[in-house]
Amino acid sequence: MKKYVVLIAILVAFSAAGLSAEGVQERDYLAEADTSDTCISCHINLDPGIIRSYQESNHSSNGVDCAKCHTAHGDDPSGFDHYGTTVTAVPSPAYCAGCHAGEVAQNARSKHAWAAFFGQYKPYYQKAKEMGLDPLAQETARRLDPDKMAKTVVSPLVPDSSVLKLIGLLDNPDYTHSNVNLGCAQCHGTFVIAEEGGKLTGWPNTGVGRVNPDGSLGSCSSCHTRHKFSVEEARKPDTCGQCHLGPDHPQREIYEESKHGNIFASNGETWNWTAPSGEWGPDDIEAPTCAACHISGFGGVVQTTHDVGERLYWELQPKVSVPQWKNADQVDDLVLQRVSDPKQAAAGREQMKLVCGQCHSSSWTDGYFDEFDNVVNDYNMLWAYVDNLLKEAYDKGLISKDLPLDETPEVFHYLIWHHSGRRWRMGAAMMGPDWTHWNGAVDTIMSSTGGMIEDLKLREKIQELEQK
Ligand code: HEC
Ligand code: HEC
Ligand code: HEC
Ligand code: HEC
Ligand code: HEC
Ligand code: HEC
Ligand code: HEC
Ligand code: HEC
Repeated sequence: MKKYVVLIAILVAFSAAGLSAEGVQERDYLAEADTSDTCISCHINLDPGIIRSYQESNHSSNGVDCAKCHTAHGDDPSGFDHYGTTVTAVPSPAYCAGCHAGEVAQNARSKHAWAAFFGQYKPYYQKAKEMGLDPLAQETARRLDPDKMAKTVVSPLVPDSSVLKLIGLLDNPDYTHSNVNLGCAQCHGTFVIAEEGGKLTGWPNTGVGRVNPDGSLGSCSSCHTRHKFSVEEARKPDTCGQCHLGPDHPQREIYEESKHGNIFASNGETWNWTAPSGEWGPDDIEAPTCAACHISGFGGVVQTTHDVGERLYWELQPKVSVPQWKNADQVDDLVLQRVSDPKQAAAGREQMKLVCGQCHSSSWTDGYFDEFDNVVNDYNMLWAYVDNLLKEAYDKGLISKDLPLDETPEVFHYLIWHHSGRRWRMGAAMMGPDWTHWNGAVDTIMSSTGGMIEDLKLREKIQELEQK
């Protein structure tokens, strides 16, 4: 009897999906799907792609069914009644925590989880704190509208805001600023707000620092895409490269031009990507990927970590490079308190060196890091000069302070730390010589610093002539 029901269900599924007899052969995964699972029995017709990925996952082979992740927690406002079960469409990290507590805790203390508040929602976060409100709460977001603030506050965080203000488009109701939704928020994450009946705004989105309706932060599916939740995929550089690229943090491009990336491109197809966590190491791959250096328990000499800051010495993205800031579990407010911790940073460097040590001698590794630290030091010296140049320009009245990024010297100053100065430092961190030199040091020193000096000279001349 049961067999008969399953057979009917499968037949219904295939006819609904419009499959021919040949199609059935090609789509074995559907035939193997457990249609006695009520969720699958419907969804196999609605979105067979989900069932396909799920069938290929370690979850399906370990009996972790749809309901285990999607049955809404009692306090989650995104829950909605769905054919007799209260379901959520956004299983946040809190839904994985029951089975993967360690990974969830590491991710939560990392800067990945906080990326939306470090990014486009910083003005909102500050405002909420000033008003004594909880920035993670749904009510606060409804009241202050973080998306609107990201789009209408003039801030160097959103560098186009100064010029938009100048030309009258910043507050123009017809100008949508949708580049913030489809830009920043795709990498950093949105604020997902749940309305009555589970309707979501700010979704779909899988940015690393997404603010979830249940008050948790982050999205595990930014690296483990649903519904395969694959370790193999997360170990490959394309996963990280989706966000870590471009003029201001070209880690993907740096990796591609490094010897490591080159070896990956040549031979990666033949490597073993599926070794269990903690065992994956130099027996499986010849050259490291992003994950090997930053996340994996590579060769068993370091622990797997979902705190991507754990093996870093420097903060290379700010104006002045400093040893790593303390993590979310060590300060009261990660977003507003940036406390550099040389001890934590030094421990991170040691961990990274253990990874290198799986394939290189200690003198090779030490020698490389000495040179890298020199580059960071050189950049910091240049920055001190540039930053002082801008301060003097304000003091002399050569430029005005009203908008932060509308005058040429201000723009150069920005490009130096935010674009080319990062490339210079990051290229050196990860063995990308072209990014270190041509796209880094040369762009910073010759093009931007040189250009800034010339522009200021002209302004000084004009000021002199005007004062005559
Ligand atoms: C009787 C059929 C049926 C059953 C049983 C069913 N679903 Fe659905 N589900 C649907 C339909 C129809 C939709 C809307 C589909 C669409 O828009 O593509 C949907 C949508 C969803 C969504 C997306 C909601 C959104 O806002 O986008 C999730 C998540 C979901 N179902 C999970 C589940 C889970 C988990 C189960 C089992 C506990 C389940 N479903 C059982 C028919 C069903
Ligand atoms: C291991 C946990 C897990 C399991 C098991 C799981 N899901 Fe999901 N599901 C997720 C996550 C995570 C997302 C992505 C939600 C987000 O972050 O926006 C998702 C998203 C969805 C969505 C909405 C996304 C879309 O593309 O439309 C549907 C529908 C859905 N799941 C259905 C199912 C069904 C049906 C099953 C069983 C075959 C299932 N899920 C099993 C975790 C899970
Ligand atoms: C009910 C328990 C349970 C829940 C809930 C759960 N998982 Fe899992 N997960 C497992 C089991 C069991 C395995 C397989 C065990 C293994 O391979 O060591 C696994 C394996 C994994 C893997 C490794 C897969 C691989 O290729 O080796 C990832 C990644 C993962 N889960 C992510 C998630 C994420 C993200 C969520 C939340 C959206 C989640 N899991 C929710 C039990 C769960
Ligand atoms: C392509 C993906 C992507 C987009 C689009 C993007 N970012 Fe980022 N952002 C990143 C990555 C990756 C980093 C980490 C850089 C690093 O540490 O090397 C970052 C870093 C930052 C930082 C530094 C955070 C810190 O801890 O110091 C801020 C601030 C920031 N982004 C704001 C924004 C804003 C605002 C926007 C939109 C105007 C935006 N980003 C668009 C990926 C992106
Ligand atoms: C920045 C990308 C990234 C994010 C975000 C991410 N993971 Fe992972 N995860 C990885 C990588 C890379 C590995 C493989 C590590 C290795 O090589 O063993 C992994 C491995 C895993 C594993 C199997 C290995 C283990 O640690 O036992 C689980 C389970 C897992 N992740 C769960 C999660 C959960 C839960 C979340 C959300 C809280 C999450 N991951 C978010 C990159 C990520
Ligand atoms: C969906 C976008 C996204 C993906 C995918 C992603 N990252 Fe990130 N990553 C970010 C953003 C945004 C930041 C900046 C966080 C901040 O400082 O606010 C960041 C920061 C980092 C940092 C700096 C952390 C620190 O403490 O300074 C490292 C290292 C990192 N990511 C490594 C990785 C690796 C390795 C992967 C792939 C396994 C990965 N990321 C995948 C968006 C992403
Ligand atoms: C050979 C190991 C190695 C590989 C491969 C690697 N990195 Fe790195 N990464 C490093 C080192 C070393 C640093 C600098 C650490 C320090 O500050 O001491 C670094 C720094 C970073 C930072 C921090 C920059 C900042 O703002 O402070 C990010 C983000 C990052 N890497 C992402 C990636 C991504 C994404 C990939 C793959 C495309 C990748 N890394 C590949 C070793 C590696
Ligand atoms: C899985 C093995 C592996 C790991 C881990 C690894 N490397 Fe490599 N690395 C290689 C191989 C293979 C080469 C190419 C052969 C050679 O030049 O010796 C290479 C080349 C290099 C080069 C030469 C680049 C060039 O252009 O010639 C440098 C520098 C380097 N690695 C530094 C590091 C540092 C620093 C770390 C740790 C942050 C590291 N490697 C981690 C395997 C590894």
